[in-house]
Formats: sequence, structure tokens, C-alpha cells
Amino acid sequence: MGSFPKHLVVLMVIAGLSVLMDRTCGAQLHESERQPPTVRGTVHIKMQNALADKSATLTVHCSGRLRDEPADLGLHDIAPTSTYEFTFETDNISRTLYYCSFQWPPKNSRNFDIFSQDRDGRKGDFYWTVSDTGPCLLDVGTGNEDCKNWS
Ligand SMILES: *[C@@H]1O[C@H](CO)[C@@H](O)[C@H](O)[C@H]1NC(C)=O
Repeated sequence: MGSFPKHLVVLMVIAGLSVLMDRTCGAQLHESERQPPTVRGTVHIKMQNALADKSATLTVHCSGRLRDEPADLGLHDIAPTSTYEFTFETDNISRTLYYCSFQWPPKNSRNFDIFSQDRDGRKGDFYWTVSDTGPCLLDVGTGNEDCKNWS
């Protein structure tokens, strides 16, 4: 036992150290990768000017929160019977929300949450027809409209 070769002891110490360093570096790598896993979803919003006055332009301004960032889509004029659309990506760790103001002549101004992740889920196609009494969500499959009140 007393004659255990010194060079073997040195080799064993080196081997032990390298295992230890491997573990430490591995842990640091793991630390930097520790992001919560997220699932994305694509949402497509389309809205049509369905005002009774077939000569009235509908002006829409949508803003809110895209995942964790403030979002502002600016002002858009929708000609009679025309559409305005936008697409964005949600994830499952934040709550995307777009609220819109709608204005049309002579001095009408109404608001509606055109997308709320809490209400509408994480993905999908949403086709709204916007009339004087409020927006209606079109079920493309059946052609049925689910009309909502302005908020
Ligand atoms: C998001 O989805 C991922 C993958 O399914 C899951 O691991 C994670 O826990 C989810 N996050 C939340 C906040 O639900």
C-alpha cells in the first residue's frame, strides 16, 4: 500500500479535477439557457368597413400590448366595404391585447378590444365586420356573425 506510485496519484488528481471542471462549466451553461419554454401562436385580424353609409370612410387606430411590449399600429383609413388587416405572434407567457378606436362621419367615435388573448386564445383568424352598432365576428365556416356591443 505504501508503495503506490506517485505518478498515478498525480494522474488521479488531474482526472478528478477535470471531472469537477466539467460539472462546473456544465452548470454555468445550464444557467444561461434557463429561459422559460414558450409556445408561439399566430393571430390574423381582419376588419371590414361595413358602415350603413356606403360613402363613409372608417378610421381605425389600434394599440395595446404585443407580448410584453407596447404596440401602436397607427391610424388607418378603411374605404367603404374595404378591409384592414394585421398579423402578429403571441406566446403563452404573456397576454397580448389590441384595443381599437373607430371613427366615422359625422362625429362618431367608438372603442373595442379587437383582440384579447384572455378572451380569444393564443392563435387564429378573426374576421370582423364593423358596422354602426358594433363589430361582428364572422364564422367563416358557417357564415354566421356574432355581433358585439361597443365597449
Ligand atoms: C408555455 O408552454 C411551454 C411548453 O408547453 C410550457 O413548458 C410552459 O410551462 C408554458 N408556460 C406557461 C406560463 O404556461
